[in-house]
Amino acid sequence: MESKRIATLTLDDGRSIELPIMSGTLGPDVIDIRALGKLGVFTYDPAFFSTSSCTSEITFIDGDAGLLYYRGYPIEQLAEKSDFLEVCYLLLNGELPTAEQKAQFNYKITHHTMVHDQLARFFNGFRRDAHPMAVMVGVVGALSAFYHDSLDINDPQHRAVSAQRLLAKVPTIAAMTHKYSVGEPFIYPKNKFGFVENLMYMMFATPAEEYVPNPILVRALERILILHADHEQNASTSTVRLAGSSGANPFACIASGIAALWGPAHGGANEAALKMLEEIGDVSRVAEYVQGVKDKKYKLMGFGHRVYKNMDPRASVMRQTCHEVLSELKLENNKLFELAMVLEKTALSDPYFIERKLYPNVDFYSGIVLRALGIPSNMFTVIFAVARTIGWVSQWNEMIADSEYKIGRPRQLYRGAVRRDFVPVAKR
Ligand code: SDX
Repeated sequence: MESKRIATLTLDDGRSIELPIMSGTLGPDVIDIRALGKLGVFTYDPAFFSTSSCTSEITFIDGDAGLLYYRGYPIEQLAEKSDFLEVCYLLLNGELPTAEQKAQFNYKITHHTMVHDQLARFFNGFRRDAHPMAVMVGVVGALSAFYHDSLDINDPQHRAVSAQRLLAKVPTIAAMTHKYSVGEPFIYPKNKFGFVENLMYMMFATPAEEYVPNPILVRALERILILHADHEQNASTSTVRLAGSSGANPFACIASGIAALWGPAHGGANEAALKMLEEIGDVSRVAEYVQGVKDKKYKLMGFGHRVYKNMDPRASVMRQTCHEVLSELKLENNKLFELAMVLEKTALSDPYFIERKLYPNVDFYSGIVLRALGIPSNMFTVIFAVARTIGWVSQWNEMIADSEYKIGRPRQLYRGAVRRDFVPVAKR
């Protein structure tokens, strides 16, 4: 019988409590502080630097070693050998699909990519120059107004139907968001295409001429979607879990994840990193720009990570993809890519970044690849949201399936006014 491991917390007034230590299959142990309330004290960890919010079997990150596993499979192997829908099946169900399971899953997703035609009317409420992420939050949230036939979230079959609808329809909405912003007609999905081909077709085809997706660009975008599919309890996933913990409609929960992803500290960093490279403009300005970072005038976008204190393994794959796409497209002398590599080299040899363990993250190179694929920078985070939808849905599903889940409700350290009586305005 394994001996129960405990941590003893002793307060300065001598009172103490024994707290169980829990271990996972991988990663650091955690101290179960649920009983701490008995001492009448809470913990304080506002940005969750040292707090785990759940148990999960989906994704594992080792920030010091720079490891990322989806259901135990290293991201480098999945990015090279798998495809996005297969990774979606893996994240959602826990195992790689058999050939038959894969065919069935792909058929289901492919045949649910159309959206209710009434949904197209929501776009007209937005200005054409609205940021596509603002439109995504609104229109994906609006899906919750369309599906009343399978919303018993405690029914696994209903959760599976909602998951399938979100995975299939978010790319269609993403492409419609792009078309709306450039003033072109919406392009309906075509079932003859694969998932990523369809996304590119719906974004770039026009009624005026045939569009045949370029297989090299499709493969590059497929790899980008795989790299962005899930990342354990990041800000947007934690938002989806907290929204879902109240029993909210799954489409509304995913809309809350899209809203959280938009921030430049999170999924908005890919757009911000490309803007930064364009602002630097030339390798001759790298040293001056880096000095501005060190003077804390601004952050180096696409650098740093709450968990990775080593190279983000996705950034390494993204750098390689960047190189392949640019050489395939004969954009070898791409100034931005050269600039990014000089910036990376400069930062990684500077004590300021070394001391703070700041390395490139997934967003540092993704913007260059996305732009080379012809995707406008205001759509970069939308593409991230298309990829992360499977992560959000899988994490939401895992939480709801856990019979022990309860509504999330953090406590606070109150530092406001003590009790006082109302003063009539004449006496203020
Ligand atoms: C994603 O959580 C996830 O998993 C997210 C994600 C996912 O897949 O879901 O991986 C996707 O969001 C990647 C991160 C994308 N964001 C950016 O690239 C924006 C730039 N990065 C920073 O904003 C920052 O690094 C964060 C937000 C990513 C992490 O910040 P932390 O963990 O809160 O760290 P911190 O701000 O406390 O920084 C520690 C020190 C500070 O310096 P000192 O006060 O000690 O002197 O490092 C500095 C920071 O100023 N620092 C940076 C920096 N990031 C941190 N300095 C310059 N440039 C940066 N990018």
